[in-house]
Amino acid sequence: MFHSPIVPRVRKRSRAAEVGIPGREEVKFEDVRLFLVERKMGRSRRSFLTQLARSKGFIVEDVLSDVVTHVVSEDIHTSSLWTWLKECDLKNLTHMLVLDISWFTDSMREGRPVAVETKHLIQDTLPEASTPTAVVSVSQYACQRRTTTENNNKTFTDAFEVLAERYELNEIEGPCLAFRRAASVLKSLPWAVRSLGATQDLPCLGEHTKSVMEEILQNGRSFEVERILSDERFQTLKLFTSVFGVGPKTADKWYRRGLRSFNDVLADSSIQLNRMQQSGFLHYEDISRAVSKAEARALRNIIDKAVHAITPDAVLALTGGFRRGKEFGHDVDFIVTTPEPGEEETLIPKVINRLTKQGILLYTEYQASTFDMSKLPCHRFEAMDHFAKCFLILRLEGSQVEGGLHIAEGDSRGWRAVRVDLVAPPMDRYAFALLGWTGSRQFERDLRRYARMERQMLLDNHALYDKTKKELLAATTEKDIFAHLGLEYIEPWQRNA
Ligand code: CTP
Ligand code: MN
Ligand code: MN
Repeated sequence: MFHSPIVPRVRKRSRAAEVGIPGREEVKFEDVRLFLVERKMGRSRRSFLTQLARSKGFIVEDVLSDVVTHVVSEDIHTSSLWTWLKECDLKNLTHMLVLDISWFTDSMREGRPVAVETKHLIQDTLPEASTPTAVVSVSQYACQRRTTTENNNKTFTDAFEVLAERYELNEIEGPCLAFRRAASVLKSLPWAVRSLGATQDLPCLGEHTKSVMEEILQNGRSFEVERILSDERFQTLKLFTSVFGVGPKTADKWYRRGLRSFNDVLADSSIQLNRMQQSGFLHYEDISRAVSKAEARALRNIIDKAVHAITPDAVLALTGGFRRGKEFGHDVDFIVTTPEPGEEETLIPKVINRLTKQGILLYTEYQASTFDMSKLPCHRFEAMDHFAKCFLILRLEGSQVEGGLHIAEGDSRGWRAVRVDLVAPPMDRYAFALLGWTGSRQFERDLRRYARMERQMLLDNHALYDKTKKELLAATTEKDIFAHLGLEYIEPWQRNA
């Protein structure tokens, strides 16, 4: 049934104290960290079983913490065990395997962690549990999974991303989304997939996905992915769409015209670049370079000063990838608003004004608000929201960045260009905008899909509409929205789906 995704790796553990063992045992199964529950087992039996497991190369933790992967118990009273586990205040509880002693004895007999089967699982039967099988079952919805920036399956997800991009560039939506979903499921796993068997209970993995995984497991790479990466059209479209303001349609048009490089494009007199594309080419080196956390913080200071000079009670929030805890991003996203209804609409033009006067605005594209509360709910999904917003390129001075700029070696300009997005929703739409702009895109897609499919509700960056009750639901925080949807709250840093 449930296969343990573990391949033994032998390594001498030098810091034995770390796992609380006297130095000699060799750790054979680094990815398995056991915790034996003392209640019912008793202290002396627990101590005996601990020694036994350690002598066979298992790591046994003395205390229950988030590093534990396998909790082993002899307690047959499921509910009291689970009540106790929940009181331990673990972040990671839904990712832990809570196992009956039979799994432990089987593993000791085999001398390795045996595959976890349903019969081994002690499942939570408490009424407040979201689903009884939450311990091991992975939801098909990203908004029911916790996905940190730590990706244990990067080889697979990188390959899926290439495949998804290939379909996206060819405007084939279905398979594109399928690969994105599959990648998202694998990103949520606290373990690395080491065999196809380990994936059999995972959702969203189709035939094609699995065959790619099988290839990677066998050969370390996928022939199909390599073929795409070396394909001239793919390479050229990727290059062209990497320019700010160039989408797949324009890229394809240029490709069909026989253009293959930036020089080809810039030398073609029949091509009229729009303002955005001109800036895209002008600042290409800078804006295709990742923005660091320190740079995002520096920009936050700049925007913070600007909005507060304009409206002292303005609210500013960092959103997008940096709010999810990413170390680097392609831009920096902010939400700004004020408590005075209507005033938020003038906020962005005023900020733009100020940045212009400071001489740090390199490019701006402003979109005035087209938001109309009376037109809610919007039935079109994935479309941009209607709030006032702007897409900027700002000049960031190195002196303002703690630890300095993230620039190429030998770059002595002392500044760089950075992409910044600002969005200004009215205060009563703040929670929806914050949730919508925090991402990830896959997380957002699945929140909306979940609302629609499971709750008969419509969610977007503006509002949440209950189709059954025929009413808009109010929310002042993201937690309110999760609660309306009947979802467990997922922290921003767990939304890297
Ligand atoms: N978004 C949106 N409407 C837009 C642009 C973006 O709702 N017009 C949302 C996206 O759904 C995404 C979030 O805003 O969830 C941030 O978008 P983006 O900056 O493109 O992505 P990040 O997740 O921040 O990734 P990166 O770190 O690369 O910037
Ligand atoms: Mn971003
Ligand atoms: Mn953005």
